[in-house]
Amino acid sequence: MAHNIRRIGLLTGGGDCPGLNAAIRAIVRSAVGQHGCEVVAFLDGFEGLVENRLRKLTQADVSGLLTTGGTIIGTSNRADPFAYPAENNSKVVDRSKDVIRNFKAHNLDVLIAIGGDGTTTALAQLSKLGLPVIIVPKTIDNDLWGTDTAIGFDSAVSIATDAIDKIHTTAQSHHRVMIIEVMGRYAGWLALASGLAGGGDVILLPEFPYSLQKIAEAIAKRTAVGRRFTIVVAGEGAHEEGGKHIVSREVMNSPERIRLGGVGQVVARDLEQLLTTECRVTVLGHLLRGGLPTAHDRLLATQLGHAAVKAALQGNSAMLCGIKRSDVVLVPLAEVAGKQKRVTAGHHWLQIALGMGVSFGVSESVLASQDTHLDQVR
Ligand code: F6P
Repeated sequence: MAHNIRRIGLLTGGGDCPGLNAAIRAIVRSAVGQHGCEVVAFLDGFEGLVENRLRKLTQADVSGLLTTGGTIIGTSNRADPFAYPAENNSKVVDRSKDVIRNFKAHNLDVLIAIGGDGTTTALAQLSKLGLPVIIVPKTIDNDLWGTDTAIGFDSAVSIATDAIDKIHTTAQSHHRVMIIEVMGRYAGWLALASGLAGGGDVILLPEFPYSLQKIAEAIAKRTAVGRRFTIVVAGEGAHEEGGKHIVSREVMNSPERIRLGGVGQVVARDLEQLLTTECRVTVLGHLLRGGLPTAHDRLLATQLGHAAVKAALQGNSAMLCGIKRSDVVLVPLAEVAGKQKRVTAGHHWLQIALGMGVSFGVSESVLASQDTHLDQVR
């Protein structure tokens, strides 16, 4: 093991999620406790790196973090130093030189970032400028290329499933169509996993634009066999065939300029034109990123945090430290950056859901015809 790595920079980038603190703890315990290195955390994601705001992290600082939500070092949407929003968000400027200067000024040997696709893309570019970087994947969307899963996903699935369980009882009592909208951006992993775990009857995925008629048919089929309620789980990126994503807002201080949201209300409004059944909508939103990490996320965060330090000490750089079939893998950032992992018709979760009688609001031929599709590239 190379021992010339002594000072490690750390940041958490993009949207928060449960498990970030567990990863911070694992990184500090491994780096400081096991290997005698120093860890310096940049505060509020790339903001701290660009604006030179940081703090040293000791073992005492991470004590008790394993079970807590959020990130003690903060995060932010300003996740692209190459197109960094100015204070009033009126324009973006390239602050990559500030990043390099601050990194060097603190005599750092490597930067470990816990982040999603925005962070990964920025790190891939920074690594081309000579910055040694390792990324630990986190995202409730599970859309990061190069890893089977990411910190935060399991916790979000668990929260969504719990909500679906609760909605079930009120749906049954009132004989309603209950639509639960979950986050996930352009990928349907969260909707699919929680829909399957929560026993959703209809799951609407961004990857397969829905037909209102097909949703109505699925509801009618249930009614015909005496099932007087229906649970619809909709990913926020779901949209009607021939339609567009539903945008909830524009954000000027983020590399991703739009936020999705509102498809639940659209489906409810349109379905009520076709049905006599009442529809109600619950948008889970940021609840999915709150609270405590599940045991699975604690384990994953600990495993990846520990592995990222090991990888850095071995002299690796420009790598994502992810999971493939339960094993930790290092994947070159060049293979990961700019890509999104999407649900495919051939994925076993989707096929199992079909086997359980779940409707995706599309004709079966759409799903069958995409059976061999590989993950889509953005
Ligand atoms: O990428 C994580 C995520 O929670 C998405 O699922 C969601 O669309 C987005 O972030 C929300 O971002 P913000 O917290 O900026 O509203």
